Amino acid sequence: MSFGRPVLILVLSVGLTLVAWSAKAADPTFDQTARYILEIVKAFRTAYVLDVVEHLRESGVVPKEDWQKDSHFLPLPAQFVKSAAAQVNGFEMGLIGLTPLNPANRPKTTAESEALVQLEKNRDVRVLSFVDGDQFKAISADLAIVQSCVDCHNQHPQAPRQNFRRWDVMGGIIVRLNRNASSEGLPLGPEPSKRPVGPIERAVPNPTVPAPWVR
Ligand code: HEC
Repeated sequence: MSFGRPVLILVLSVGLTLVAWSAKAADPTFDQTARYILEIVKAFRTAYVLDVVEHLRESGVVPKEDWQKDSHFLPLPAQFVKSAAAQVNGFEMGLIGLTPLNPANRPKTTAESEALVQLEKNRDVRVLSFVDGDQFKAISADLAIVQSCVDCHNQHPQAPRQNFRRWDVMGGIIVRLNRNASSEGLPLGPEPSKRPVGPIERAVPNPTVPAPWVR
């Protein structure tokens, strides 16, 4: 009986420690979060290149830098990522390169440049993640998955490098998370960003119109 209390306390504290530990283990880390986001950005980018750009190529609808000028042009794969990134609040995603066609796509820090060098040097490493100042970053090698990546980059008038070959690492897809974001997840922006209404949103019917199943 005299041992009852200490044993109970011990059992309780072990139990609580276990609960706390498993709750912590269940929290996604910055590393996991960054890698998931990277995986999704990469998947959509690749699907865009293989299923849209390559599919339309023979019809004469091709990716062009100034695609807005003509409805027969498509955004470049990089522009597609950047345009999606512009709709995201709370963290950054984008494309960077050591020899970029657009100087705005240069790495933002030395750590980013070094990661790109590592990805180019060691082709077995597909993703690198690291703390960089107040951000957590993950970079994944952006490979020349189709010949048109190489052709366009090598022939571009602003090309600082003209010897890309198929399957080369052309740059990196990057995700930058703010480390001060709460551990309960990245805060969503207080309201949607103030971008102008796009054509699809404009076509969305007035919400006062009853849904088809109540009409
Ligand atoms: C028709 C031309 C064209 C094609 C095809 C193309 N790119 Fe690009 N790419 C560009 C241009 C132009 C930019 C700069 C866009 C910007 O940020 O304004 C760019 C940007 C990039 C960047 C960021 C660094 C930089 O150079 O500015 C990477 C990485 C990249 N492209 C990789 C690829 C890969 C991989 C493919 C194939 C899946 C590809 N590109 C296909 C023209 C092209």
